[in-house]
Amino acid sequence: MKKLRDQVVVTGGAGFIGSHLCRKLLDQGKSVICIDNYFTGSRENILPLLENPFFETLRHDVCMQLYVEADAIYNLACPASPIHYQTDPVQTTKTSVHGAINMLGLAKRLGVKIFQASTSEVYGDPEIHPQTEEYWGNVNPIGPRSCYDEGKRCAETLFFDYHRQHKLRIKVGRIFNTYGPNMHPNDGRVVSNFIVQALEGRPLTIYGDGTQTRSFCYVDDLVEAITRLMDTDDSVTGPINLGNDGEFTMLELAEKVIALSGSSSKIEFRPLPQDDPMQRRPDLTKARDTLGWQPKVKLDDGLKETIAYFKKLLHS
Ligand SMILES: NC(=O)c1ccc[n+]([C@@H]2O[C@H](COP(=O)([O-])OP(=O)(O)OC[C@H]3O[C@@H](n4cnc5c(N)ncnc54)[C@H](O)[C@@H]3O)[C@@H](O)[C@H]2O)c1
Repeated sequence: MKKLRDQVVVTGGAGFIGSHLCRKLLDQGKSVICIDNYFTGSRENILPLLENPFFETLRHDVCMQLYVEADAIYNLACPASPIHYQTDPVQTTKTSVHGAINMLGLAKRLGVKIFQASTSEVYGDPEIHPQTEEYWGNVNPIGPRSCYDEGKRCAETLFFDYHRQHKLRIKVGRIFNTYGPNMHPNDGRVVSNFIVQALEGRPLTIYGDGTQTRSFCYVDDLVEAITRLMDTDDSVTGPINLGNDGEFTMLELAEKVIALSGSSSKIEFRPLPQDDPMQRRPDLTKARDTLGWQPKVKLDDGLKETIAYFKKLLHS
């Protein structure tokens, strides 16, 4: 029977990035099944999508097997911020590893392609800068961040073994720091932290001396890259770095947030936590060459959108 629309599964679809991805896929005319256990995601994130008859939600933990029909799978389920993934580190590893096994099994049964939301954390505290996909990383296997870093590394291993062993069509994207509306307000990530602190008139906390650098990708740019990666031909497996290669120090970011939110907050310095990398910036050569894509949204513009979102959230 001829199908009118492609049906795609998005795990973690009620989360920050997942909710934007679901919206984009619906805009592209696809039918979306959002799978989420709402550990860090929320109904609010997907509220505007619920009216769409082609959007379906399923409360489900990816650590359990899933039986649905789909034409493609985007696997994003996993808490992404240290505060959340360290709450129950064993569950975090299970979500990455068992979740990957279950979704890969589903993709194999259905014979469909599957995207994995991997992370720049697979590079750990990198010894080379910027990080290319060929770099194997410098990860502590037994530290407090390992449940996430090593879980994601093992998920990549599983993706590539399913590809080699079962000829599964895989797409692995290594996502660098992403920000935008629908971020969790209390997730301890630097952009949301700074914005909430600035809007509440509290001091902005910088860990370390503020000279460590990060790159920040606006979520619209990221989901554009994810969908382009999924649409590449079968020879493209990744891993491909996805993010923004503009580099800013924590101090620069804090000053921008204070200025753009019109806040009178001051900046406070605290000790640097264990295993916190000093520098991180993606080498985006592969993404540019393979996807014909590059991040477009400037940090100031993305911050303005994100500040507006948090303003509304804090006043609701
Ligand atoms: N945001 C970033 O900067 C960033 C960077 C690198 C990688 N990533 C990856 O992108 C993906 C999405 O990140 P995000 O920032 O949107 O995080 P998020 O925490 O907002 O979203 C994760 C979603 O997964 C759901 N989830 C968690 N465990 C689950 C489980 N066992 N079963 C079903 N659902 C589960 C959560 O409820 C949430 O809706 C994650 O895999 C994350 O590792 C994000």
